[in-house]
Amino acid sequence: MTADGKIATANRAVTSFGSARDREHLLGLRATADAVMAGARTVDSAAINLGPGPAKFRRSRLKKGLMEYNLRVIVSGSGSLNPDAEVFKHHFSPILILTTGRISKTKLRQLQAIADEVKICGGREINFRTAFCWLREKWGVKRLLCEGGGELNDALFRAGLVDELHLTICPKIFGGRNAPAIADGRGFRRLAEALPLQIKSFRRIGNEVFAVFRRVPQR
Ligand SMILES: NC(=O)c1ccc[n+]([C@@H]2O[C@H](COP(=O)([O-])OP(=O)(O)OC[C@H]3O[C@@H](n4cnc5c(N)ncnc54)[C@H](OP(=O)(O)O)[C@@H]3O)[C@@H](O)[C@H]2O)c1
Repeated sequence: MTADGKIATANRAVTSFGSARDREHLLGLRATADAVMAGARTVDSAAINLGPGPAKFRRSRLKKGLMEYNLRVIVSGSGSLNPDAEVFKHHFSPILILTTGRISKTKLRQLQAIADEVKICGGREINFRTAFCWLREKWGVKRLLCEGGGELNDALFRAGLVDELHLTICPKIFGGRNAPAIADGRGFRRLAEALPLQIKSFRRIGNEVFAVFRRVPQR
């Protein structure tokens, strides 16, 4: 994110702005996860494939006993996801879509034709606890990396399902009331509800800060 907490510009033209080191960090994180997850607007808005990247990361996965290619999970509550998005053109690992009962029959059929599985997890809202149990039981997902965007991040924070937050702070300001931020969506309303985090690590590399926060264990 930028120094003002934004993950894209307000017109969404700029969505990638970290250094090469940050990109390596992202791929390094993917190499520790059984599955990589993103929201529909993130998948629609850039040519991303959510895959493990170069061979060295795939080798590192195999050494850890993970599948060579991570699973890919896309969240689209109403099924508004673009079926022509870049991610569907890469066939190296299963693509699973999480949706809700709000999806129309036509959209459901459309997405079923391009994904390996479309799972309805909830009536109007996705129940991520149910979704993650399903991912674990059916697809063996023990560690999941969520790459945003802000709306999806917010839902996971509110559901209390985030163990660690890896933040790269880039020395830029995007500004803009409508620029996506690290946690958009509904948010918390009261200070007492805010998600408490602890700093796990904090490092300056070059002109960026690499921070890791972890959830405060509940008593
Ligand atoms: N700088 C970075 O590292 C970074 C990382 C990720 C994303 N981004 C940028 O952030 C922007 C996207 O962020 P965003 O917040 O607008 O969108 P997002 O979270 O990627 O996707 C939002 C969509 O995902 C689905 N969704 C998310 N949470 C849901 C929930 N709880 N229940 C049901 N469906 C849910 C909905 O799809 P339906 O409409 O189908 O219901 C919703 O419209 C893009 O510009 C992207 O490039 C930047």
